[in-house]
Amino acid sequence: MTPPDNKTIPLLDLQAQYNSIASELEAATLGLMRSGQFIMGDTIAQFESDIAKYLGVEHAIGCASGSDALLLALMALEIGPGDAVITTPFSFFATGGAIARLGATPVFIDIRPTDFNLDPAGVRRFLEGMDTRYEALGVHPEQVKAIIPVHLYGQMAEIEEFLAISKTFSIPLIEDAAQAIGAKQAFTNGRIVSAGTEADFGCFSFFPSKNLGAFGDGGLITVRDPELAEKVRILRLHGSKPKYYHRMVGINSRLDALQATILGVKLKYLDSWSANRHEKAAVYNLLFTEAGLVSEAPHCWTKDCSENCVWDGNGVILPTETVASNGGDHIYHQYTIRVKNRDAVAKGLTNAGIGNSVYYPLCLHQQECFSDLGYAGVEELCPNAVCAANQALSLPIYPELSENNQRRVVKTIGTLLA
Ligand SMILES: Cc1ncc(COP(=O)(O)O)c(C=O)c1O
Repeated sequence: MTPPDNKTIPLLDLQAQYNSIASELEAATLGLMRSGQFIMGDTIAQFESDIAKYLGVEHAIGCASGSDALLLALMALEIGPGDAVITTPFSFFATGGAIARLGATPVFIDIRPTDFNLDPAGVRRFLEGMDTRYEALGVHPEQVKAIIPVHLYGQMAEIEEFLAISKTFSIPLIEDAAQAIGAKQAFTNGRIVSAGTEADFGCFSFFPSKNLGAFGDGGLITVRDPELAEKVRILRLHGSKPKYYHRMVGINSRLDALQATILGVKLKYLDSWSANRHEKAAVYNLLFTEAGLVSEAPHCWTKDCSENCVWDGNGVILPTETVASNGGDHIYHQYTIRVKNRDAVAKGLTNAGIGNSVYYPLCLHQQECFSDLGYAGVEELCPNAVCAANQALSLPIYPELSENNQRRVVKTIGTLLA
């Protein structure tokens, strides 16, 4: 990755992060290499214990990736053909892919335009049998065996309401917290909860670009119920316990000791890095506002409203912090604005040497591999997600990003919108 200079502003600068803790990382990895213990063992046990403490959970189990964490949660629930799992259409592919890989049917319910997260009101309507539009797809509320909200871009979906839904309908809840380690939300009783710690399962990714990133793939699954936790531990080792005796068919999904070593070093810095990202987000908000580039979100985008996205303004809509008002915390894995002529703006930024990315340009229900689910044949079921896929644009954000470079990003967008 190119280091930042006057010409280039990368979307993320992992080199700068490495340089800031290089000696610690190098000493720790050298120790691991000399130990010869590369699979499981003390390093994994130590990391699992450290991260369980950080998250405030009983059971935190390392695995090979965030995608596998989702798969393992669904496998532990024995989800398979004939079952349905509700999730968001506006996420990384793994969220829907894990469901489909087990032969179950993903049910994509629309997002809220404010925070891009799965709309609990829409989920409730579907489970109450009030949303008859899905009948054309042949999926029914009784088939639903799990719900997977995703905490997109580092901001938690409304987990308190999802927990209430999970309880009312006795459907297990899986938090896809791949992008949200350390994000917080306040419950109505004032309790502050952390992403991926309240539901039956929490799934995390340590993909290098994540706020807590490994030097390759890695993942983690938190589990509330001790028996299900034990099942996940067995499933990640091919379903064997004791070794070579298989009670179930699992997968090979261990977290590497080398990755756990790196993550163990980085974990100490995670909160300060995320706080730093938060500060950078506030700087962007100020700069966009001072430059007169901010459009107001439509009034119908209130928390409880799931009206279709109708925003068609000329400026940008800043990321909405739905969790902040009552003490929650967005960790800004991504700083994502909305802008109308998104593709042209993205191209203009790239031409100016400014990194940017579109997460995600095509919704899951519109992917070719899911065409047999039938979403194309019925009225648009997820208009807010489709609108977000056309307007979302993620800008450079990382602790080492300089204010001068942030000014350049905003100025360039101003020029492109003029
Ligand atoms: C929302 C979401 N879910 C799941 C995953 C899968 O994680 P991994 O890449 O570690 O398999 C990702 C990773 O990008 C993600 O962003």
